[in-house]
Amino acid sequence: MSTAKLILDGQEYEFPVIVGSENEVGIDFTTLRAKTKAIAYDPGYGNTGSCRSAITYIDGEAGILRYRGYPIEQIAALASFTEICYLLIYGELPHHDQLREFERKITYHTLLHEDMKKIFDAYPATAHPMAILAAMVMSLASFYEESDDPETTDLNIIRLLGKIITIAAFSYKRSVGQPYVYPRNDLTYTQNFLNMMYSLPTEPYKVPDVLDRALNLLLILHADHEQNCSTSTVRMVGSSQAGLFASIGAGICALSGPLHGGANQEVIEMLEMIQADGGNYRKYVDMAKDKSSNFRLMGFGHRVYRNFDPRATILKKSADEVLEALGVHDPLLDIAKNLEEIALKDSYFIERKLYPNVDFYSGIIYRAMGIPTNMFTVMFAIGRLPGWIAQWREMRADSETRINRPRQIYTGATERPFVPIFQR
Ligand code: ACO
Repeated sequence: MSTAKLILDGQEYEFPVIVGSENEVGIDFTTLRAKTKAIAYDPGYGNTGSCRSAITYIDGEAGILRYRGYPIEQIAALASFTEICYLLIYGELPHHDQLREFERKITYHTLLHEDMKKIFDAYPATAHPMAILAAMVMSLASFYEESDDPETTDLNIIRLLGKIITIAAFSYKRSVGQPYVYPRNDLTYTQNFLNMMYSLPTEPYKVPDVLDRALNLLLILHADHEQNCSTSTVRMVGSSQAGLFASIGAGICALSGPLHGGANQEVIEMLEMIQADGGNYRKYVDMAKDKSSNFRLMGFGHRVYRNFDPRATILKKSADEVLEALGVHDPLLDIAKNLEEIALKDSYFIERKLYPNVDFYSGIIYRAMGIPTNMFTVMFAIGRLPGWIAQWREMRADSETRINRPRQIYTGATERPFVPIFQR
């Protein structure tokens, strides 16, 4: 199969077919408009391949997710988050010394410029941490020079990876009115973040292993997911040759929406609502089916996964383990499991192939870890950062990249004369 034929107004046109390394097939429509004057109409881009990418492979029907060829199940069980950052960004797993050096550099860039602290102080204590995160990441562009020079870009990549955990933890400390805790060079990436979140100057704190392991797993599971909404935003902004900080800041804004990364916060709020309503699961399943209610089962459904989300499978198991290790019994976990069971037997969800996604169980683990609900999407952003960086870097190096500029089908008024209200 090397070409596809299109007949438009009786005229036949041929387009090349491209095949990916997992045999996914795409029709190359780059010459569609030039040849036919027509455009491909695809709202939401559900059928549109916006790039070629060698980073992440998903088979939504089979529930497969691989980073650079490595199955998510193996990575989740065996890797460290920093190792996965390196893999996603640079394409191969690091050797032992490369990983140590990469981690050392990130650690030495966790500190924030003292002037950035003043910006934190200006936010109201009620500010949503996602709004702070997006603005502070954008602000990095005013502190650090950006250029096309690969060394400068590499340094800014390290800065972003290092500073995002400090920005996130500071935004939490700001919201609870506690003193900022500075990063420490003797801690690992995940320990450093948890220490900045939970330690207080008044008493010694050691990061519990169970929290460290759970965070490592959650970050890995969120690390990349090919051309999702926020990643496509990063690529789109970056396609205008905007810098890394601006592109990632835009990705954080896209992630904040409740249909994307914001769903993890919405799931917990939904489960709390069901709990407050006496655990009446059936009512909420019925409401989700009722189109006039505007209510959706948050954490259910996915544009790509049509069978199961492998990340949700891993997290469901992990939720039990983490809660048990922490000695936490959370009634919301029981509600979530019951809700899942009822929904999965319901023809509405079966017919539409709606299954729990990664956000359905992640919030329960974050809650058990003591992460406040309004920080959940920030946690997602920390995890997704290496994916955004890898995709941005790949996009910039790709000779096929053009400024992203979709077309439209215009449905407004046709030409009409302007009649002035006032005579001038
Ligand atoms: N609850 C009830 N019905 C749903 C849900 C849901 N969670 N999700 C989809 N549907 C229904 C739609 O109403 C639609 O029904 P229809 O065919 O009768 O009109 C059908 O299923 C298809 O849904 P779409 O919205 O067209 O699917 P799309 O692929 O555009 O959206 C999305 C995917 C946004 C994830 C959607 O399933 C949703 O809103 N889920 C809830 C929010 C959520 O959990 N988001 C996190 C996604 S994962 C992530 O970003 C990390």
